[in-house]
Amino acid sequence: TSSVCVLDSKDAAGSAQPCAHSLDSIPGPTNWPLFGSLIELLRKGGLKRQHEALINYHKKFGKIFQMKLGSFESVHIGAPCLLEALYRKEGSYPQRLEIKPWKAYRDMRDEAYGLLILEGKDWQRVRSAFQQKLMKPTEVMKLDGKINEVSADLIKRIGKAQVDRKIDDLYFELNKWSFETICYVLYDKRFGLLQDNVSQEAMDFITSVKTMMSTFGLMMVTPVELHKTFNTKTWQDHTAAWDRIFNTAKLYIDKNLKKHSNGSTGSFLGDIYHQSHLTKKELYAATTELQVGGVETTANTMLWVIFNLSRNPCAQAKLLKEIQDVVPAGETPCAEHIKNMPYLKACLKESMRVSPSVPFTSRTLDKDTVLGDYTLSKGTVLMINTQAIGLNEEYFDNGKQFRPERWIQEKSSINPFAHVPFGVGKRMCIGRRLAELQIQLSLCWILRDYEIVATDHEPVDAHHSGTLVPSRELPVAFVRR
Ligand code: HEM
Repeated sequence: TSSVCVLDSKDAAGSAQPCAHSLDSIPGPTNWPLFGSLIELLRKGGLKRQHEALINYHKKFGKIFQMKLGSFESVHIGAPCLLEALYRKEGSYPQRLEIKPWKAYRDMRDEAYGLLILEGKDWQRVRSAFQQKLMKPTEVMKLDGKINEVSADLIKRIGKAQVDRKIDDLYFELNKWSFETICYVLYDKRFGLLQDNVSQEAMDFITSVKTMMSTFGLMMVTPVELHKTFNTKTWQDHTAAWDRIFNTAKLYIDKNLKKHSNGSTGSFLGDIYHQSHLTKKELYAATTELQVGGVETTANTMLWVIFNLSRNPCAQAKLLKEIQDVVPAGETPCAEHIKNMPYLKACLKESMRVSPSVPFTSRTLDKDTVLGDYTLSKGTVLMINTQAIGLNEEYFDNGKQFRPERWIQEKSSINPFAHVPFGVGKRMCIGRRLAELQIQLSLCWILRDYEIVATDHEPVDAHHSGTLVPSRELPVAFVRR
């Protein structure tokens, strides 16, 4: 059933191939009038199990299939060769699926768009303003001091927050850790989220982001205009949450810019603002979206690494040995140390492969494009299933097994398009390096002080709720060394 990948150089420009078939011939699940595959998907466990259903569809239909959910049509790709073909044909301004509820809020309040929702030349302009600071390795390395300050708080918190060696709501603690880190990087402001007494302002800020994220899903599948017209509770909660997020972000961006108004360098946002031609509004929106994009994804990834290490004591012991070999006792781990820690990097990569936080990303085609055997027309929404690729036995032997060694021993034989947890091409995650450094440094801190142990060995499923979250409180404990 699987389609063959055609990577003919003649089709590099994306022009239609004479042999390529049209969209209609792409296989896919039942397509009922009005509902499409919605009912089938609901029967298979609903939206929270959609990632499992989609992996199974790839097993059944192959590398590419199409699906309709209500009126929403999409083409799903789950093979490195198709991803590579897409990457090679990428234009200057790749586009993801629109997040209409966010746009509706910004339009209503006359605020700008950030990187998650911008398109075209404006996207490129804002992206280049942030690119250097966030994607250049030597720039990101400079952030290790800030990351470490928050890591030190996290370690103290792990020490204090334990009941029977288990941490009550570890996920929330990790969300506070990633929120605190990104705020410190962006605004140069400590909110103290990992302290015993968290200020009301800090709690309101993190709660607003949580509310905003939990209220937009419904408006992605029902028309946002309706919610707005009828002023539904979802719309009210969503806009009130964005109001609070914008107010707080603006306050601290302004304070930060004022502090550095004499032109002094060294402030993350100050440097970007003074070296680019972004307006204040653009800076507000882009910063806010960096924050929104960076909190749960990073916390969730960290959560799954902790889980995978708890279930793989040998890997954990090997990792601890690497940390102890590279970071002398009593010294603080820093970005320079991480350069010499291949096993740490492999552990993170492997955890993101077997337990990804973001299972898929999307693209809206900006021109007719040939992918594999098919010609897809402009406007087609492509869902790129990075989870399905990463778990496929065709690309990874014993795909379900957590084996960091594969990234060291078999590195050269792994197709680079088979592991893309941060997406691909010009529009890939801009926070990737920051997230990696943050997780890697914090893992050094944690493992030096604690052994992460499994408190049971029952399976832990993942539920889809924006990111893939564990279906139950993680069965892990932190045992002081
Ligand atoms: C985009 C994953 C951390 C900000 C993305 C995309 C993925 C992703 C899959 C879509 C890429 C594509 O469509 O090709 C993750 C994961 C993270 C993480 C797994 C943590 C482990 C962060 C952090 C930040 C951030 C820390 C902020 C500093 C963004 C932004 C975009 C994005 C702004 C949109 C980029 C654009 O369209 O130009 N991320 N991300 N992410 N991420 Fe992340």
